[in-house]
Amino acid sequence: MTDKRKHVASPLARQTLLDSDLVRPIAGKRPMRLLPWLQVVKIGGRSIMDRGREAIVPIVEELRKLLPEHRLLILTGAGIRARHLYSVGLDLGLPVGSLAPMAASEAGQNGHILAAMLAADGVSYVEHPTVADQLAIHLSATRAVVGSAFPPYHHHEFPGSRIPPHRGDTGAFLLADALGAAGLTIVEDVDGVYTSDPNADSAEKPELLRDVSYTELAAMQGTLPFDRAMVDVMANARHLERIQIINGLVPGRLTAALRGEHAGTIVRTGAYPG
Ligand SMILES: Nc1ncnc2c1ncn2[C@@H]1O[C@H](COP(=O)(O)OP(=O)(O)O)[C@@H](O)[C@H]1O
Ligand SMILES: [Mg+2]
Repeated sequence: MTDKRKHVASPLARQTLLDSDLVRPIAGKRPMRLLPWLQVVKIGGRSIMDRGREAIVPIVEELRKLLPEHRLLILTGAGIRARHLYSVGLDLGLPVGSLAPMAASEAGQNGHILAAMLAADGVSYVEHPTVADQLAIHLSATRAVVGSAFPPYHHHEFPGSRIPPHRGDTGAFLLADALGAAGLTIVEDVDGVYTSDPNADSAEKPELLRDVSYTELAAMQGTLPFDRAMVDVMANARHLERIQIINGLVPGRLTAALRGEHAGTIVRTGAYPG
């Protein structure tokens, strides 16, 4: 039997891609950083956007003042409208892959709102294909763009749970890590990650975790102020060694975080330094 496959001079040409020992010498290297100067900021849907003027206007002012200092990819999450969609859709029996793009469209709506507020400063909303392929040219023309934080799994969403598991936090983390960004800041309405929900009635007083690793979060039973799927993704991070969760209702916290100061909860990922 002669092997009739045409052989191309490539180290992976004759391998199955399933044998990690064979693939490691070629694929084991750290990928390049595409946009090492980029700061990614994820603005919460429920925690910030749903509060309307009282929360949006101050954060927009803070973002505006940060434009000369940083080049930003601002990503917005979904909030109350997605929750309403989930409840109607689940009642009707819609599959998770139908719910995901509906929720993602709310994240996009929040992005359009934020972009409109910053339009006079040269900031526009851009769609996923633009973020994927044309971010560099857009951020050479302007200091910041706004996009939807939701990852485009849509009808490819994993069927494990009825609520789409990959939401805005996971999407923002995947993008920031894939682009080799300088940082990811997640803007919420609490000072960071607590031992339990600080807004829930509980006998024990929740404690703020100032610095925590993704493994500690994975071991925590209760709720978190971001998608659990993001914690899973953090295990295999390639660039982002840490992210920060901050309270966007307190003026100055976002500015401090983007300047590298400790202003909320730092979450350490599985990425190794170097
Ligand atoms: N362990 C926790 N630490 C901090 N906040 C938590 C925790 N668990 C739940 N929360 C709640 O998460 C809320 C933020 O909700 P979330 O759904 O993340 O909003 P958004 O859609 O803006 O991301 C906080 O106001 C807080 O009440
Ligand atoms: Mg959140």
